[in-house]
Amino acid sequence: METQALLCLTLAFLFFSGTHSVTFTIKNNCPYTIWPGTLTGGGLPQLTPTGLELASGASLALDVSANWSGRMWARTQCSDANGKFSCGTANCGSGQVTCNGAGAIPPASLVEFTLNGSGGQDFYDVSLVDGFNLPLTITPKGGSASCQSTSCPGNVNQVCPPELAVKGSDGSLIVCKSACEAFNQSQYCCTGDFSTPDRCPPTQYSKVFKDQCPQAYSYAYDDKTSTFTCPTGANYLVTFCP
Ligand SMILES: *[C@@H]1O[C@H](CO)[C@@H](O)[C@H](O)[C@H]1NC(C)=O
Ligand SMILES: *[C@@H]1O[C@H](CO)[C@@H](O)[C@H](O)[C@H]1NC(C)=O
Ligand SMILES: *[C@@H]1O[C@H](CO)[C@@H](O)[C@H](O)[C@H]1NC(C)=O
Repeated sequence: METQALLCLTLAFLFFSGTHSVTFTIKNNCPYTIWPGTLTGGGLPQLTPTGLELASGASLALDVSANWSGRMWARTQCSDANGKFSCGTANCGSGQVTCNGAGAIPPASLVEFTLNGSGGQDFYDVSLVDGFNLPLTITPKGGSASCQSTSCPGNVNQVCPPELAVKGSDGSLIVCKSACEAFNQSQYCCTGDFSTPDRCPPTQYSKVFKDQCPQAYSYAYDDKTSTFTCPTGANYLVTFCP
């Protein structure tokens, strides 16, 4: 009896500490199929899966380590031609549904996470630094009441300046590039003479993104209004087309 009780306690301890994990729920609210991708950072092993197909209305729960850091995005307009899979937006270039450690090729709206970072906080944000392909939201679940959701609810494509717009084969606008990607100039990329926060203010282009999505990163040094924190212990819902 005593041995069993000890075993139970040990298992309980392992369950609640050693194997602690965080659940991400990825939900597709878009009226079309999407192919979310995941990219793990910090030299940690990639998640399983690194890419998947999610029908309209479907969701998927994904358990990650309590220390996970990385990003997620959603590919759209994907097809398989002669065994080579590729997507009209946010393609990862792997030629497969899984991305296998490849990131999104811009433009792509991103969600970024550093779980259990400094001070035992989870850090998360929505980033349009690599451009915009679709709206998305991060919603903490079951954590402290102080944990806030963050979102890019707007459709940047509708207000995308012509010089940043990328059109699909049917002529419709499908994605909006960041000014950094479109022009590769230091004042937009916050590089060279513009490589510090005080030297890289918002631009007319970053403001277009910020107006649509005030909580999202609109350029590299947009930290103040775009980084969110939550004490560890929360799970996260990532909704595409919220
Ligand atoms: C998280 O990282 C800390 C410190 O590096 C380590 O002690 C802990 O075991 C890790 N937790 C998980 C679930 O990997
Ligand atoms: C969070 O990180 C701290 C220090 O790096 C570590 O001691 C702790 O075990 C980690 N928490 C989890 C749940 O892994
Ligand atoms: C962007 O410009 C830098 C120099 O300013 C150059 O080294 C780099 O190759 C350029 N990148 C692209 C994608 O053209």
